[in-house]
Amino acid sequence: MIPQTQSERTRALCALAPVIPVLVIDDAARAERLAEALVAGGLPVLEVTLRTDAALAAIKAMSRVSGGHVGAGTVLSREQVYRAKEAGASFAVSPGATETIIRACEDASLPLLPGAVTASEVMQANEYGYDMLKFFPAETSGGAPALKALAGPLPHITFCPTGGITPQNASAYLSLPNVICVGSSWVASQNAVAEGDWTGIEDRARAAFQLRG
Ligand code: 3PG
Repeated sequence: MIPQTQSERTRALCALAPVIPVLVIDDAARAERLAEALVAGGLPVLEVTLRTDAALAAIKAMSRVSGGHVGAGTVLSREQVYRAKEAGASFAVSPGATETIIRACEDASLPLLPGAVTASEVMQANEYGYDMLKFFPAETSGGAPALKALAGPLPHITFCPTGGITPQNASAYLSLPNVICVGSSWVASQNAVAEGDWTGIEDRARAAFQLRG
């Protein structure tokens, strides 16, 4: 079997569903139930941002949920890469694409979804071997028209736009040939998770799953 590159592994995960819920979890005790609701709704790929003290424990708990693929988001340092891997994360997401993060993820064999917006950033990430990128922050960086324009000179690069994606604008992104999925907090907002609104979260996951059409 030909070994997959980091980016191929990331793209395979991104292709599993049209939306990756971006999660901010304050209480790890709610994490397993949250993952169950999202997986049941058809969204198996989950990004837990490392922005709260509970994030690593949440990743650990969510990794036990059958059918789920739990990644660590907002990864900003080498140490976070290792802690995420140790907690059971199966991929990492970073808002940017630094050499430190890229090397750390390769050393840890953790598939990385690195962020890039401009043509130079995209080309730089591509020089490191990455052709599946997070386009962040999507809406304030030109949105779907910007991604459409990037597909002209850089048709071999695919994206997961994140930042400002809503049920209203998601389809405009998902209809582009260079968009594999979108990332967003709308399916399971910090408040919805804190309130334990599992039914609402599962309903929104189900609706998000249908977005690919
Ligand atoms: C984030 O940074 O939290 C993600 O990009 C999600 O952004 P959103 O809340 O606009 O969906």
